[in-house]
Amino acid sequence: MKLDPFYDLDVVLVCGLPASGKSHFSRGYFNRDGRKRVNRKEIRRSLHQMTTFGEAWNEALFDSGDEGLVKHVERRILEHLLHGGQKVLIDNTSVTVASRKSYVQIARQMHKSIGVIFLNTPLKTCIQRNSGRDFPVPDVAIVNLSVSQQIPRSGEGFDELLIIGEY
Ligand SMILES: Nc1ncnc2c1ncn2[C@@H]1O[C@H](COP(=O)(O)OP(=O)(O)O)[C@@H](O)[C@H]1O
Ligand SMILES: [Mg+2]
Repeated sequence: MKLDPFYDLDVVLVCGLPASGKSHFSRGYFNRDGRKRVNRKEIRRSLHQMTTFGEAWNEALFDSGDEGLVKHVERRILEHLLHGGQKVLIDNTSVTVASRKSYVQIARQMHKSIGVIFLNTPLKTCIQRNSGRDFPVPDVAIVNLSVSQQIPRSGEGFDELLIIGEY
């Protein structure tokens, strides 16, 4: 894996289907040099626990009505960290061009470099790994995302691009 060019970037977006291995990969290769991780699932979890006086969050409590706020908070955290000169890793599914666009725009507006790493783990492997989790995502959600999946290409505006076939 040619990861060296990514270590210098301000923003690294690690994307792929649920259970493709994003969080495992990110922790293994990018928990270094003080880089900060931003993850929507953790924002969902924090918002839910805070607003319910401490009730634990799990995937079954996913509410699409909260996603506007989740994205807003994610953006503010990202901007805050980048303003402070920190390097950031975004760990998010972002399987479509449209879902990656806002990250490229934020980086460009702030004159920061950004790269994308796409974990193109086979659907079957994702479904297998997902089923082994305590709180699996519904299989249908993974299948639907795999249908809409668009592998990143040059022209989307990233400074570096890496597709990992099997992780
Ligand atoms: N390369 C790998 N080999 C074996 N198991 C893996 C690998 N990557 C991730 N896993 C396991 O698969 C599950 C999903 O990985 P995770 O990193 O949480 O996926 P994601 O963050 O993409 O949803 C976890 O239980 C994790 O430990
Ligand atoms: Mg994860």
